[in-house]
Amino acid sequence: MKSLLISILLTITISLNAQNELNCLSSGCHDSYMKAENIHLAIEDGCDSCHDQNFENHPKRVGNEFELTSDLNTLCFDCHDEPDEKLMQHEAFAGGDCVTCHSPHSSDNISLLKSEDVGELCADCHDIDNEENMIKHGPVVAGQCNACHEPHQSAFANLLKEESPQLCFNCHTDNKKMLNLPTVHAAYEGSCLDCHAPHNSKYKFLVKDEIPNLCYDCHDDMGSEIDTAMVVHKIINQDKSCISCHLPHASETSTLLVKEGKELCFTCHNKEYKSEDRTLKNIYKIVTKSKVQHEAVESGECIDCHFSHASNNYYLLNAKFPFGSYSGGADPDNFSLCFECHDSDALRLEKTTTATNFRDGDENLHYLHISKNKGRNCTLCHSVHGSNQPHIIAKTVPFGKWQMPLKYKEIENGGSCAPGCHALYKYDREKDN
Ligand code: HEC
Ligand code: HEC
Ligand code: HEC
Ligand code: HEC
Ligand code: HEC
Ligand code: HEC
Ligand code: HEC
Ligand code: HEC
Ligand code: HEC
Ligand code: HEC
Ligand code: HEC
Ligand code: HEC
Ligand code: HEC
Repeated sequence: MKSLLISILLTITISLNAQNELNCLSSGCHDSYMKAENIHLAIEDGCDSCHDQNFENHPKRVGNEFELTSDLNTLCFDCHDEPDEKLMQHEAFAGGDCVTCHSPHSSDNISLLKSEDVGELCADCHDIDNEENMIKHGPVVAGQCNACHEPHQSAFANLLKEESPQLCFNCHTDNKKMLNLPTVHAAYEGSCLDCHAPHNSKYKFLVKDEIPNLCYDCHDDMGSEIDTAMVVHKIINQDKSCISCHLPHASETSTLLVKEGKELCFTCHNKEYKSEDRTLKNIYKIVTKSKVQHEAVESGECIDCHFSHASNNYYLLNAKFPFGSYSGGADPDNFSLCFECHDSDALRLEKTTTATNFRDGDENLHYLHISKNKGRNCTLCHSVHGSNQPHIIAKTVPFGKWQMPLKYKEIENGGSCAPGCHALYKYDREKDN
């Protein structure tokens, strides 16, 4: 259709053109139009397809010697398609504001654009730059607004060429491949624009808000859970926050995790964390260097006992467990963490010959130690993650600031200890009480 129009225009206007060119172009006055790289084909049709001469004595200036053949706002539609009513219109296009962006005559840029940097044209009417937003999107910096927007009309809101995510995949092809990974974030299958700003942002990687707030936008229940919890995993309010453990888009692992199982936790807990009021142990060292590991740690996962985000128990534990040296008594409910896996009779029964091996004859020494005084905590005798002694017996017990050696020994049918200043204690399961 276009080429037909062109050839018709070319044939019927050859003679007229010769005259026009002599007057307007070859006279040395307006020949600069012909020196540009791209010349509007309408010029072949003659200057008078757009300009009417209303005074004879051009080029002697006596005022406005030419007027446009149509109103400036409708002139271009004389030959170009009218806006398509089915599409959303750019006011600048539908209103016939063509010459803010296009030269009517010729230009060195494609599509007769007045600037190679399309962004400069748009900046006449739109100010999308925000000086506070230091992170800018590549194509915006390059002035390629038209990589994402139709300048005239579009089937999509905001004059977009396509909707997100397809719009984004056009350039970010690796991101499209992520859709094939085993775990894909439901948000990622939605719209990239839920998390990213298209033009610029205050935050790295063009995210719309700081993490974790970005995540709480949708995971609002988690936000309130974390706000009200007794213990929050400190990392959530530090550094990379949520994305120190989760990938935002998709992953090879379950739950979008950066690494799975213990490996995730060991990326950080392979060192001590010292702060003013406490030192958190290097769990990686305890677990890998101990001769005896708690089987729950060895063949299980850290999250069998710990929550990863927040908890109403000390040390992020996922069930009740006493803090410090004392427990408040031999009530299994105080230790529900341990008795999720172990039989609580080991603590409940005062006398037993089966429920625990920590007994002297039928005297349950678990019960004895834990019911006495304020009640001992399990951690006085057991190193929960691992130790160098059988039954994960601790090497020392804290006595104030002093780490008192426990000197536990396993003996036939029992064991012995010699904590600090005390004499040697022994228990013997075969003993007759
Ligand atoms: C497709 C329509 C069209 C054709 C063909 C056309 N012009 Fe124009 N011309 C315009 C429009 C529209 C303007 C006003 C531009 C504006 O207001 O920014 C204009 C403006 C001008 C001006 C004023 C200065 C300027 O550049 O804005 C001159 C001079 C001019 N034209 C000369 C010519 C000559 C000579 C020809 C033939 C070689 C020609 N025009 C062909 C549409 C056309
Ligand atoms: C007399 C008819 C006519 C008028 C009036 C006219 N054009 Fe054109 N225009 C053409 C023809 C013919 C072509 C070449 C075929 C095509 O691309 O559609 C063209 C092509 C174009 C192109 C594409 C150039 C390229 O290199 O891709 C642009 C942009 C353009 N016109 C803008 C305008 C603007 C802006 C106006 C109004 C100021 C206008 N046209 C008025 C006939 C016209
Ligand atoms: C806001 C700036 C802007 C306005 C206003 C505008 N255009 Fe365009 N136009 C462009 C850009 C940018 C391109 C190049 C598109 C691309 O390649 O992505 C273009 C391309 C074109 C083309 C060639 C490609 C095509 O779509 O056929 C024509 C013809 C054209 N415009 C005509 C017009 C006419 C006629 C008007 C007024 C009714 C107009 N334009 C108004 C920016 C504009
Ligand atoms: C001559 C002035 C003018 C120019 C130049 C211009 N625009 Fe617009 N644009 C408008 C007006 C007017 C509106 C409608 C009012 C508004 O939403 O701000 C608009 C609206 C828009 C919208 C929102 C559309 C919607 O659906 O809400 C987008 C996106 C847009 N323009 C992109 C561009 C791009 C990209 C460029 C450069 C290629 C550009 N504009 C150049 C005047 C202009
Ligand atoms: C990478 C794609 C992309 C590029 C490049 C881009 N935009 Fe946008 N733009 C968008 C998207 C997506 C939206 C819709 C945002 C939304 O839905 O929140 C938008 C919205 C807009 C809007 C309307 C809403 C607003 O923010 O005011 C305007 C105007 C606009 N863009 C202008 C521009 C201009 C001007 C440029 C070039 C300097 C540009 N855009 C470059 C993707 C882009
Ligand atoms: C026209 C191509 C193009 C389109 C379309 C596009 N981008 Fe980009 N994007 C780029 C380029 C180029 C960069 C800069 C890459 C760099 O600096 O390494 C970039 C960078 C980014 C970055 C920051 C990456 C970094 O390393 O800082 C994010 C996030 C991003 N784009 C998201 C999007 C989203 C979301 C969309 C869809 C709304 C989108 N992009 C559409 C070309 C594009
Ligand atoms: C749930 C929020 C969220 C969604 C949805 C999302 N992103 Fe991201 N994206 C992020 C975060 C957070 C980062 C920064 C990651 C980092 O710092 O390691 C990022 C980083 C990026 C980067 C730069 C780093 C990289 O991985 O290459 C690109 C490009 C990107 N996103 C593109 C996209 C595209 C395209 C989509 C839509 C298909 C999308 N994003 C959807 C949150 C999101
Ligand atoms: C636009 C909404 C939205 C945003 C923003 C968002 N998410 Fe999600 N996310 C969802 C939806 C929907 C699901 C699936 C339902 C559910 O588990 O709640 C989900 C699920 C998840 C899952 C579980 C995935 C699985 O397969 O088990 C994780 C982990 C997650 N999001 C982390 C994040 C992180 C980290 C951020 C911030 C970088 C974030 N989300 C931001 C909507 C969002
Ligand atoms: C220390 C690592 C770590 C951090 C930091 C972290 N998560 Fe998780 N997250 C996990 C692990 C591990 C799981 C799997 C837990 C499970 O299966 O019980 C998980 C599960 C999830 C789930 C799915 C199950 C559920 O609990 O709903 C969502 C959603 C989630 N995380 C979002 C977030 C958000 C949002 C943030 C930031 C506020 C965040 N995570 C911070 C490690 C972490
Ligand atoms: C990205 C680093 C990082 C990862 C991964 C990580 N943590 Fe942490 N964790 C920390 C930081 C930082 C603290 C706070 C240290 C401090 O108090 O100075 C902490 C504290 C803890 C605490 C003590 C909580 C308290 O305040 O009482 C426990 C328990 C814990 N983490 C368990 C885990 C578990 C289980 C995992 C794996 C699911 C894990 N962590 C993964 C960084 C991390
Ligand atoms: C069988 C349950 C259980 C498992 C499995 C477990 N923990 Fe613990 N963890 C505890 C208990 C109970 C405490 C609190 C008592 C203590 O400090 O020994 C604790 C305390 C901690 C502390 C604070 C230590 C300190 O300095 O006192 C960190 C950090 C920790 N665990 C990380 C981990 C990591 C990492 C893993 C996985 C390798 C893991 N835990 C597996 C039960 C468990
Ligand atoms: C997720 C399950 C699980 C939890 C929770 C758990 N354990 Fe264990 N624990 C085991 C398994 C499995 C074994 C190895 C089999 C056995 O001896 O019962 C074990 C073994 C032990 C042993 C060594 C037994 C021996 O004779 O070698 C001690 C001591 C122990 N656990 C103490 C605790 C304490 C204290 C708690 C609470 C802080 C606890 N466990 C929480 C699963 C768990
Ligand atoms: C006073 C030190 C001491 C305290 C306190 C203590 N234990 Fe023990 N526990 C032992 C000794 C010693 C053994 C090894 C018995 C044997 O096999 O000779 C043992 C064995 C165990 C076993 C292996 C099964 C069994 O009963 O023989 C489990 C499980 C266990 N303890 C859990 C706990 C839990 C849970 C707590 C806290 C409620 C706790 N222990 C408190 C010293 C203690």
